[in-house]
Amino acid sequence: MKMKFDICKNYDEMSKHAAKIFADLIKEKPNAVLGLATGSTPEGMYDELSGAELDFSSIKTVNLDEYYPISPYNENSYRYFMNKHLFSRVNVKIENTYVPNGSAADPEKECKEYDELIEKLGGIDLQVLGIGPNGHIGFNEPGSELFSNTHVTALTESTIAANSRFFDNISDVPTKALTMGMSSILSAKKIVLLISGKVKHNALKALLNDKITPNVPATFLKLHRDVTVICDTDAYNG
Ligand code: GLP
Repeated sequence: MKMKFDICKNYDEMSKHAAKIFADLIKEKPNAVLGLATGSTPEGMYDELSGAELDFSSIKTVNLDEYYPISPYNENSYRYFMNKHLFSRVNVKIENTYVPNGSAADPEKECKEYDELIEKLGGIDLQVLGIGPNGHIGFNEPGSELFSNTHVTALTESTIAANSRFFDNISDVPTKALTMGMSSILSAKKIVLLISGKVKHNALKALLNDKITPNVPATFLKLHRDVTVICDTDAYNG
């Protein structure tokens, strides 16, 4: 099935539209498993959800990825980001929120257990994704494999450069990450991909045709039967 494209006039409208899809699911299935993402793009959606008086008390969340190595208390860790932007603002039980452990002594074991956990939870009902300017999804960088579970990966120079804006120094950016693989992501029942800003125009363009290539990992999403791309006009028009 073709990807669906919803083009919003700006970031705010994109965030509201994405939040509504999550809110509808939470109302319909109060014990849903939400697949969550970090980055600047979903921040607005988390703001909307935090202000929406939704009941997260039986909701479970699994995040896409985490830097490695990084302490969960580091302000740049994805665990810290999630606590700050969503978990501390809604009534989710913190023990029902899962982010790969960036300080695990055995990262390979952590990845294996993360996939087992997702399976035990019954799979992801709705996964939100951002996208890297080079088309990466989670930390599935160009050249990633389609059939991959949660794994340890090396970040590309361009992703380290793009993400260094959050760190004091580019040398502080961890060079590795733990990320759900494309197989784990494609197992989600429904996927919403958020794309905002001119800097993402080329990545978005690669989704508008039928080509699937590991050079742009986001194109693997064309294999899924229920993907909605929600973008703003900046990303769409470039
Ligand atoms: C990081 C994350 C991705 C995210 C991407 C884009 O590399 N691992 O999950 O989609 O950045 O982030 P932003 O939304 O800040 O552009």
